[in-house]
Amino acid sequence: MSDPAFWRGRRVLVTGGAGFLGANLCHALAARGAEVTALDGFLFGGGANPANLEEAPGPGRIELVRGDIREIDLRPLCEGRAVIFNLAAQTSHMGGQADPLADIAVNAVAQVRLIQAMREAAPQAVVVHASTRQFYGRVEKLPVDENQPVAPPDANGVSKFAGEQYWMLEHRVHHRPVTALRLTNCYGPRLRIRDARQTFLGIWLRAVLEGRPFEVWGGEQLRDMTYVDDVTEAFLAAAENPACHGRIFNIGGAPPASLRRIAEILVRAAGAGAEFVVKEFPPERASIDIGSYHADDRAFRAASLWAPRIGLEEGIAASLAWFRPRMARYL
Ligand SMILES: NC(=O)c1ccc[n+]([C@@H]2O[C@H](COP(=O)([O-])OP(=O)(O)OC[C@H]3O[C@@H](n4cnc5c(N)ncnc54)[C@H](O)[C@@H]3O)[C@@H](O)[C@H]2O)c1
Repeated sequence: MSDPAFWRGRRVLVTGGAGFLGANLCHALAARGAEVTALDGFLFGGGANPANLEEAPGPGRIELVRGDIREIDLRPLCEGRAVIFNLAAQTSHMGGQADPLADIAVNAVAQVRLIQAMREAAPQAVVVHASTRQFYGRVEKLPVDENQPVAPPDANGVSKFAGEQYWMLEHRVHHRPVTALRLTNCYGPRLRIRDARQTFLGIWLRAVLEGRPFEVWGGEQLRDMTYVDDVTEAFLAAAENPACHGRIFNIGGAPPASLRRIAEILVRAAGAGAEFVVKEFPPERASIDIGSYHADDRAFRAASLWAPRIGLEEGIAASLAWFRPRMARYL
């Protein structure tokens, strides 16, 4: 569990701070009294939404800076920061396949820009980098620990792996305290639900909230979905805990469930009228699909004392309740 006192008055930068995970993290930091700058370029097709940073709880502050990490002067933004949570990324798998150069520009080249700016402006700052389970690709052995070979199934997996490795290099060569968290599928309030660009659950949530059936592709693939509050706790714990620095961790979530099972839980939580249909995987997606995945996250649990707390039933019900009165801002 994170220690609220750790954050009081601390100056923190969150890149990708208007996106799904970044905004939830900003809210948690402000609630703990941190002075937060959320940097976001509002990239087309991503999860950035101005509504994500509304309803800030205080006592801390969230300042939004609109800027692109590919070109903005990053040094003034890094200056005086104790912690940098680095979540800005091109996250679309299909987008990375369609335009791999744009994907590398954000997920690898701009990461090196940020690393270099921080050497000058924030040499002591702790970094927690949002990495992904995506680049393990199709795995042969479940659950997946950090020693499984990396075999990215798509261009986005390659660029995210490169970005993570530049950050870990910074730890090895310049002793920067860096932790990389390889996240699995995350969901919850502030998810992009307009379409399926962020995760399949986004478009499912939208459909049931609008009273329409949703499609499940395949259905037997296993996922260990992480509710966003558990993701936020993992980021905070990683920053606070020196035992996590210099390390890469897999982060899991709820016990593994098939997509069909997740759909059933959603339908039950949504109540009368909600339904889904199972369909074949579309061929253009099947070629980059990773099959089943669930994380072995015992290393992170041991180093940080973190554990996911929110089960699927609770997390899905909480997500529906959060979005219902806010639908207009998310479509
Ligand atoms: N959500 C998940 O299930 C999941 C799973 C694995 C890894 N991750 C990682 O977590 C991080 C956050 O993901 P998310 O789900 O919140 O996605 P998101 O799209 O909601 O957030 C990413 C944010 O980064 C911003 N951004 C992108 N490029 C930028 C640039 N060049 N300059 C400034 N801002 C830029 C986007 O506008 C967006 O707001 C990403 O690094 C992603 O790879 C997320």
